[in-house]
Amino acid sequence: MTEKAQAELLEDVLSRYEDSPNPRLKEITEAAIRHLHAFVEEVGLQRDEWFAGIQFLTAVGQKCDDTRQEFILLSDTLGVSSLVEMITHGGTEGSTENTVLGPFYVPNSPHRAMGESMLVDPDDGDRVVIRGVITDTQGNPIEGATLDCWQNATAGFYAVQQPDGQSAENLRGIYTTGPDGRYEIRTVRPVPYPIPSDGPAGDLLKAHGRGWMRPGHTHMWVRADGYKDLITHVFDEETAYLREDAVFGVRDSLVRKFMPDEDGELAATFDIVLDRV
Ligand code: BEZ
Ligand code: FE
Repeated sequence: MTEKAQAELLEDVLSRYEDSPNPRLKEITEAAIRHLHAFVEEVGLQRDEWFAGIQFLTAVGQKCDDTRQEFILLSDTLGVSSLVEMITHGGTEGSTENTVLGPFYVPNSPHRAMGESMLVDPDDGDRVVIRGVITDTQGNPIEGATLDCWQNATAGFYAVQQPDGQSAENLRGIYTTGPDGRYEIRTVRPVPYPIPSDGPAGDLLKAHGRGWMRPGHTHMWVRADGYKDLITHVFDEETAYLREDAVFGVRDSLVRKFMPDEDGELAATFDIVLDRV
């Protein structure tokens, strides 16, 4: 097939979408078609390779069930989820950066008092404190903001991954700011952990010699009336894999050092700036 025939094929395909009634769906579908054709042309995709790709995507779908979403995991490991988060959040200059939600968020965590520990089960890890103030972009404290937090135990797993090994409420908690906008969370130092690698997304990582570890982090979903939700992490500056995060979730502005405070506790300060809706 000549280049001219290939270009004509693309034009013919696109022309069939000209009368599409939904402008946004039309824009997305046409761009996807253009990029897919360009990709096939760029690599000179052969029929057996195309079929291997079809089989791969079929396996990704077959791995999905009520609790496992292999397409999201694939999107995460290709950096697409991270890109979509950047575009969707679109925070203003000075507001706290967001990052990926991940699959281990469980709604309705227990409400916890200021300074209370999220740790419910025995754990050998270092005890740490994360504290800060939640403000608007002008620096005004936000009262009544909630920080919905979750992280893994020192064994490497989130409570939701180990229903028989951890209490359901272990290392989860919702903290609410007072009039000064301050919060204080006690927890264990988060450790690096593997993302699920026993499916086709993991096979693809292995085929490329890539790792499947995430650096240690604590997740936060911050909500306040009149402000945009912020889904983010705090990363430990000393954790492994900061530069090799399997899902490209690290933002330099979210990395903090844990240091002994005046009471001898290992503490990190993480101030949070929210954008108005
Ligand atoms: C997480 O941080 O919990 C996570 C994010 C993306 C994929 C797997 C895990
Ligand atoms: Fe995580």
